[in-house]
Amino acid sequence: RKAHSIAVIPGDGIGTEVTPEGVRALKAAAERFNIDLTFEDFDFASCDYYLEHGQMLPDDWKAKLSRFDAIFFGAVGMPEKVPDHVSLWGSLLQFRREFDQYINLRPCKLMPGIKSPLADRQPGEIDFYVVRENTEGEYSSIGGKIFEGTPRETVMQETVMTRTGVDRVLKYAFELARKRPRRKLTSATKSNGISITMPYWDERVKAMHGAYPEVAVDQFHIDILAANFVLHPDWFDVVVASNLFGDILSDLGPACTGTIGVAPSANINPEGDFPSLFEPVHGSAPDIAGQGVANPIGQIWCGAMMLDHLGHEDAGKAILDAIESVLAKADPGVLTPDLKGQGTTRDLAQAIIEAI
Ligand code: NAD
Ligand code: IPM
Ligand code: MN
Repeated sequence: RKAHSIAVIPGDGIGTEVTPEGVRALKAAAERFNIDLTFEDFDFASCDYYLEHGQMLPDDWKAKLSRFDAIFFGAVGMPEKVPDHVSLWGSLLQFRREFDQYINLRPCKLMPGIKSPLADRQPGEIDFYVVRENTEGEYSSIGGKIFEGTPRETVMQETVMTRTGVDRVLKYAFELARKRPRRKLTSATKSNGISITMPYWDERVKAMHGAYPEVAVDQFHIDILAANFVLHPDWFDVVVASNLFGDILSDLGPACTGTIGVAPSANINPEGDFPSLFEPVHGSAPDIAGQGVANPIGQIWCGAMMLDHLGHEDAGKAILDAIESVLAKADPGVLTPDLKGQGTTRDLAQAIIEAI
């Protein structure tokens, strides 16, 4: 029985409310499936830590976290206290880059019992993955500001696409599409307007398709792709996108499934050289933080993805089944306000844990 050690980083806002519920769900699954999980909590990667230490992370964060098998992360950001680019570039974006978590896998599924804001959409009609490039692209630190404070003030920030970086996310997406029944891959592009990086992206998609002739490929420019998420969500199976496009699509997709509160994500280093990180798609939600009403499902589903990643697919599936069974009951006393219920974070989590 192999032991897995998990670093738990709650972060800020509702991150501190949903991570404990995620850990309780993981413990329930671990007990049922006889998995040896150990957890250690960290207070860094939070704005309170920043206000005390002047930085988001301790100097030795990489050594501290490297020895874990995975990182279970909540959310970071308290824009009233610390500018978002400072808190995020000082924490989450460092983890993704330094741990080379170049895949951000974000499932998007309309669950039984949930009403989609898209009229008449039924469970089964929205069920796809966004595979987001997670280490380069539009999220680059190359750029600068000149002529500051003058009428000629100018800012610029480069988009970076490396052949390695593009090919590895495409390969992952093709592999995923190949294993799914529909074997369909959609590429998010904008090669009509962004005339250097995006045509390159398209060219690499074409080249990689050569190795996966069994996968049907289409592509849309990001503007109409966003529209089609709303108009035809049933068209999609695996959607591969650059860092920024993937970010946008992975809030839009889950919104079409009722609420972003249910959406999980896996920041994966597929080679296993570094720990992978599991966090909900949503942020710290300062508008509802402290009220105990955040939807815990995104965080709990992250636990399922983490167990899958650690080789315990049966336990991961049990968590997802538990989530689905609780949602299918559609009990307004249990569901959180984002799902039109009156339940608390604890009520919804408790129902799922009991189902596990
Ligand atoms: P957000 O995801 O925190 O919130 C957007 C809206 O969705 C809010 O109205 C919020 O109440 C609601 N919401 C989010 N999660 C919910 C949940 N689990 N249950 C119910 N409702 C939920 O996005 P934002 O407002 O743009 O960002 C707030 C802060 O979080 C910012 O500092 C931002 O940078 C940060 N952020 C962090 C992450 C992350 O750590 N991965 C992700 C996104 C945003
Ligand atoms: C996400 C978030 C982050 C991102 C922010 C908080 C930097 O929106 O994980 O989707 O843009 O990647
Ligand atoms: Mn996002």
